Amino acid sequence: MLIRRNRILRQSPSIRSLVAETTLSPNDFIAPLFIDEGENISFEIPSMPNYYRRSIDLTIKEVKGLYSLGIKSILLFIKARDEVKDNTGKEAWNDDGLMQRSIKAIKNAVPEMLVMTDVALDPYSSYGHDGIVKDGEIVNDETVEALVKMSLSHAKAGADFVAPSDMMDGRIGAIRKALEENNFTKTGIMAYSAKYASCFYGPFRDALDSAPGFGDKKTYQMDYANRIEAIKEALADEEEGADIVMIKPAMAYLDIIREVKNRVGVPVSAYNVSGEYAMIKATAKMGWVNEDKAIIESLTSIKRAGADLIATYFAKDAVKLLS
Ligand code: PBG
Repeated sequence: MLIRRNRILRQSPSIRSLVAETTLSPNDFIAPLFIDEGENISFEIPSMPNYYRRSIDLTIKEVKGLYSLGIKSILLFIKARDEVKDNTGKEAWNDDGLMQRSIKAIKNAVPEMLVMTDVALDPYSSYGHDGIVKDGEIVNDETVEALVKMSLSHAKAGADFVAPSDMMDGRIGAIRKALEENNFTKTGIMAYSAKYASCFYGPFRDALDSAPGFGDKKTYQMDYANRIEAIKEALADEEEGADIVMIKPAMAYLDIIREVKNRVGVPVSAYNVSGEYAMIKATAKMGWVNEDKAIIESLTSIKRAGADLIATYFAKDAVKLLS
């Protein structure tokens, strides 16, 4: 005689859905968008099939579509022209730059859409690094000053959240202070708190042509061997005023998402990065894994690990699959 038969709760779709511990909804997703100069441009990123880099006009169409599907938040990345790249990153706080024009155009067209913006110097850096380079090193404090100017410029253009992805020390506190001093009391900060030096960013760097020109990003992004350090980073960012903390990438870092979720008092987001997207796309193309099922299973696992929000290139697909 068995006292407990665990299969009772698995025997039909109805009972399974009744006891499911984790459910996905369109409210969980942040859709990253890649924006380029020009008009009527829609460029499919070779290593990210069915994902596009678009000019502002077509981005607006896309944003309207996302909002009508129930997606309420987007994360913007721009591809800067080579001519504006240098080692100061000054184009990053050009109030008439591509990012700033994009923010204004999107907020104007779909005011309810939450606009989050990437804050890091790599798209603007002649070296492809997230900070200012001196004698072959990425210098911290000067970079933080640049990131502060960049954040203020995004806030001024109308960004709802700035999302610093650079991993410099002290930037969250510096950005928060500057937002306060300049009366941007409604602008949020989503901190990439535990961002690892990961090979899974490869396709993203293709999308924006932003691969580092020398070396790697290991002196600022985290070592994937580390766990305790991620908690330290997340707690520090919370202390410095981050509204949301982020773990990145997601799928190889589910343990980190859970540990951080157990320790912080702010929402946790996870970034299901470009290489994770590409892996599912590639294996599905080979016919080795069912794409739709892989999307939902992996996003569910990220949420189950503890992510309150998920930035994912699958946002639109997932919402369609869920409905
Ligand atoms: C740049 C940035 C990167 C990503 C988001 N912001 C790349 C990097 O750090 O090299 C990666 C996103 C992805 O791979 O989907 N600061």
